[in-house]
Amino acid sequence: MTSKLDDIIKQLKEHRSAFDDELNNAQRPEEVEGLRIKYLGRKGIITGYFSFLGQIPADEKPRLGKELNIVKGYLQSKIKERGDGQKGGKSSKDLFDATLPGIEPRLGRRHPLSLVLRDIKEIFKSLGFVVATGPELETDYYNFEALNLPKNHPARDLQDTLYIGENLVMRTHTSPVQVRTMEKQQPPIRMISPGRVFRRDTVDASHYPTFHQVEGLCVDQGVSFADLRGVISAFARKLLGEDVRIRFRPSYFPFTEPSAEYDISCTNCGAKGCRVCKGSGWLEISGAGMVNPAVFKHVGYDSEKYTGYAFGMGVDRIAMLRYQISDIRILYENDVRFLQQF
Ligand code: PHE
Repeated sequence: MTSKLDDIIKQLKEHRSAFDDELNNAQRPEEVEGLRIKYLGRKGIITGYFSFLGQIPADEKPRLGKELNIVKGYLQSKIKERGDGQKGGKSSKDLFDATLPGIEPRLGRRHPLSLVLRDIKEIFKSLGFVVATGPELETDYYNFEALNLPKNHPARDLQDTLYIGENLVMRTHTSPVQVRTMEKQQPPIRMISPGRVFRRDTVDASHYPTFHQVEGLCVDQGVSFADLRGVISAFARKLLGEDVRIRFRPSYFPFTEPSAEYDISCTNCGAKGCRVCKGSGWLEISGAGMVNPAVFKHVGYDSEKYTGYAFGMGVDRIAMLRYQISDIRILYENDVRFLQQF
């Protein structure tokens, strides 16, 4: 005669094989979940058997408990297997394919302005110039006053900027570094100073309220305008090619006398006239001239003994010329589609 316990254990085995069949037939994840509820849910078949534990003699409990736990564990592991399978068939470890190309990290690149600046610095270094820097937040004295632009001078209007209080301005040009350099040392001086400058400008394709300049200064005995021309031409040829030409036009800056603006022949069209040079064949780079004795006076140089030339250049314009960029704004928008071309 079989005991009640043997009966129960037999039933459990039947349920277990029924479960196996049903799980084999189950296709979709919902069906597997349905089986879980049917057998192991709160009112599930196997769960129901746990209530027998209270109805059988105490000495039989451990045996039934053990059987129930084995069946429950079996069902759980089968359902879990199927669950994992549904999620991807195989574990990600099995899916690793060493022959697939790797994920290439995107490398950073230099900004076109940095590329041009690097070349400008190299060329001037090869001509015997050192590189100096100065602050972007500058005093009124260095940005204007010492450059012979006293308060209320009309030429200040061309270089309006942000005033941070009475005597501090966002520098409008790199020329203050001329003064800072001359204050620190005696001639001979051959220095360039690259950096960012700020002006009140209405934004358009060729104007932006911040841009970059490279300042140049040479002070020694017997320095002439011919030296200025020579250095600028040598520089332009090295940067843009041997057939590049330069031209000087008379102009005015309070800190140079005489003053000029200088242009480089358009390399985009071979100076024939195109969109980049707006049909003129020439690109304005910036100003230059012989250092005004009034500036020497501010730094205590003897203008009877020394002469010097100074020049500025717009880095953004040179970059635009070199890379045929027709809108300055793109240099400041951090658009990766543009930047990754360099
Ligand atoms: N600082 C002038 C400007 O920004 C350019 C310049 C530099 C002119 C040096 C003469 C000498 O417009």
